Amino acid sequence: MQCSRGLEREGFLIDKAFLGGGVYSLRFETQELLPAILPGQFFMVGPHRWKSDPFLLRPFAVVDGSENGVEFLMKVVGRGTKDIVSCERGTSFRLRGPLGNGVFTATRGRSLALVAGGIGVAPLLCAWKFHSDVISSFVFGVSNRDWAGVADWASSKVSGLTVASDDGSLGCKGTAPDVLKKEGDFIDEIWACGPVPMLKAVYETFGGKSLIMASLESRMGCGIGGCHSCTVKTQRGMLKVCHDGPVFDLSEVFLDELI
Ligand SMILES: Cc1cc2nc3c(=O)[nH]c(=O)nc-3n(C[C@H](O)[C@H](O)[C@H](O)COP(=O)(O)OP(=O)(O)OC[C@H]3O[C@@H](n4cnc5c(N)ncnc54)[C@H](O)[C@@H]3O)c2cc1C
Ligand code: FES
Repeated sequence: MQCSRGLEREGFLIDKAFLGGGVYSLRFETQELLPAILPGQFFMVGPHRWKSDPFLLRPFAVVDGSENGVEFLMKVVGRGTKDIVSCERGTSFRLRGPLGNGVFTATRGRSLALVAGGIGVAPLLCAWKFHSDVISSFVFGVSNRDWAGVADWASSKVSGLTVASDDGSLGCKGTAPDVLKKEGDFIDEIWACGPVPMLKAVYETFGGKSLIMASLESRMGCGIGGCHSCTVKTQRGMLKVCHDGPVFDLSEVFLDELI
C-alpha cells in the first residue's frame, strides 16, 4: 500500500463502465477517509505507475463522493485519459483532492437552473445531488446520439433531466441554452459547465438577467496553486482555476481569452 502525502490519498479503481462516445464512469475506493467534498470540487488523478513516466496527474470533477470513495466521468481525449481508462479494476491510483475553493453554493429562495454541455455534465451531477430541492431545471446538451449512453446514465441520477442534441437525434433538438430559454421561466441563477462556445452562448442568452456561475476548465500542472499553468483573465486580474475556481461568476471572466 502507498502512503498518503498531504492532500493525496491512495485510491483503488473498483468500478469502470463504458458509456459510449469515448466516455467512462470510474469509481474509486480509499482506505483513508476523504474530507467532505463540495459540488464543483475536483481531484488530480493518475495511476501510481505514472511515477516512472513524465505524466502529470489530470484534473477531473467529482460526480459523486463519500468519505471512502469518489466517482468521476471521463472522456478520452489524449494520452492521459486513454491510459487511465485502460487500467484494470484494483489498480492503485493517486487521488489529490478534493481541490478548488470556488464551488457551487445555492442561495435559498432564488430560482436555479443547470446547463451542461457534453462532459461538463460531471460537476453538475454533483451539484444536483446537493441542491436538487432548489433546482427547477437541468438541461444536458450534447452533439448527437453518440451520447445516448451518457444521457441514460445521467438520467438515472437526475429525475426530470432534459436532454437536448444539436442535430435532434437525441432528446429535443437545439443547444442547451436555447432549450432552457424556451422553457421561458425567469431564472435568478444558472450554473453551467461545458465547452467555451456553450458558455458564451449561455452568457449571451442570460447574462445581465441571471447570475451565471460556471465551472471552467484549463490545463493544470499541480491543481494546488503552485505552478500558474491554469490562470484565466478576469475583472479581478489573473486568477487560478485550481485555487480561485473552478467555479467563477461568468460576468467577471474574459470569455474571449478562454481556450
Ligand atoms: C477543473 C477541471 C475539471 C475537469 N473535469 C473533467 C471531467 O469531469 N471529465 C473529463 O473527462 N474531463 C475533465 N476535465 C478535462 C480533463 O482534465 C482533460 O481532458 C484531461 O486532463 C486530458 O488529459 P489527456 O492526457 O488525455 O489529454 P492531453 O493529451 O493532455 O490533451 C488532449 C487534448 O485535450 C485537451 N485538454 C487537455 N487538458 C485539458 C483541460 N484541462 N481542459 C480542456 N482541454 C484539455 C488538449 O488541449 C488536447 O487538445 C477537467 C478539467 C478541469 C480543469
Ligand atoms: S494547476 Fe498549478 S496553479 Fe493551478
